[in-house]
Amino acid sequence: MSNNRTVSGMRPTGALHLGHYFGVLKNWVEMQHEMEAFFFVADWHALTSDFADPTRIKGFVPELVMDWVASGLDPQKCTIFQQSQVKQHAELHLLLSMITPLGWLERCPTYKEQQQQITNKDLGNYGFLGYPVLMASDILIYRPQWVPVGQDQLPHLEMTREICRRFNHFYGEYLVEPQARLTPAAKCPGLDGRKMSKSYGNAIHLGEPMEDIIPKVRGMKTDENRLRRNDPGNPEVCNLFPYHVLMTAEDRQAEIRQGCTSAGLGCVDCKKILLESLERFLTPIHERRRELESRPDTVWDILRDGNARAREEAERTMEGVRQRLSFDF
Ligand code: TRP
Repeated sequence: MSNNRTVSGMRPTGALHLGHYFGVLKNWVEMQHEMEAFFFVADWHALTSDFADPTRIKGFVPELVMDWVASGLDPQKCTIFQQSQVKQHAELHLLLSMITPLGWLERCPTYKEQQQQITNKDLGNYGFLGYPVLMASDILIYRPQWVPVGQDQLPHLEMTREICRRFNHFYGEYLVEPQARLTPAAKCPGLDGRKMSKSYGNAIHLGEPMEDIIPKVRGMKTDENRLRRNDPGNPEVCNLFPYHVLMTAEDRQAEIRQGCTSAGLGCVDCKKILLESLERFLTPIHERRRELESRPDTVWDILRDGNARAREEAERTMEGVRQRLSFDF
């Protein structure tokens, strides 16, 4: 069975930054024009780590939707919804949990890594182990062909495919085995060259005002071998240049590369050009965000419509699932 549908989600854990935009969101915005798209706030998934203090999640839900819509997701073009408001996800999660071998979950690389690395939170829970099963349910319930995710989610998607095959093996071909669609655009590194992350303090948020961004860009390290203004630089080892690749017009990029390697363009001026590019990129996002903030009902209206639409699709799949498990009473 094949279709032209896509599903993806994000956890509501705080403001989105450029890394999220160029890593995932940009792909979503493009895909909404190419196929039938479902994008959701994975609020139950946020609970797997924030269960001790879940109150913050509620505030992050509308914030996330505002970031999405401000960045170009169009509720007329795609379905924007909230995981916890489509209870069918929980039902499928329960059923899939019955057929998911423990070994698959225990061997999941993200599970092992996070158990070791995140020491300030208790991750020794059933729900955390089952994170990939809930994610499989989120996806399989819409029977999509494509799932646009970042590199870090590939092990989860692989497990979704395995669970799908196991379901179809037991109960007959019904669920669709989805494929990952990685973002074609280059990654956006953090201001210090590491992965952009709120916890590293190296991020530029989509809602961040220019006056806060200016000192951050001024403080960025460029080619550290370029000690004097007259030394030629190397864009390949500069923290700034990847941003030009993402945000500065291509002919301008070529000029910058040429200016840098010939010592014609200094880092201070190069940063000025980047600030212009950032401003051009962020201004429409900021404007749309302010508009949404001035009418808070808009976000809830978007979610209400999206939830209803998602529920209908999810219920359709569940009817078939119940039948195949002889649970259609
Ligand atoms: N695990 C994903 C993340 O942390 C979020 C997510 C939950 C998701 N369910 C999903 C992504 C289903 C794609 C499809 O980014």
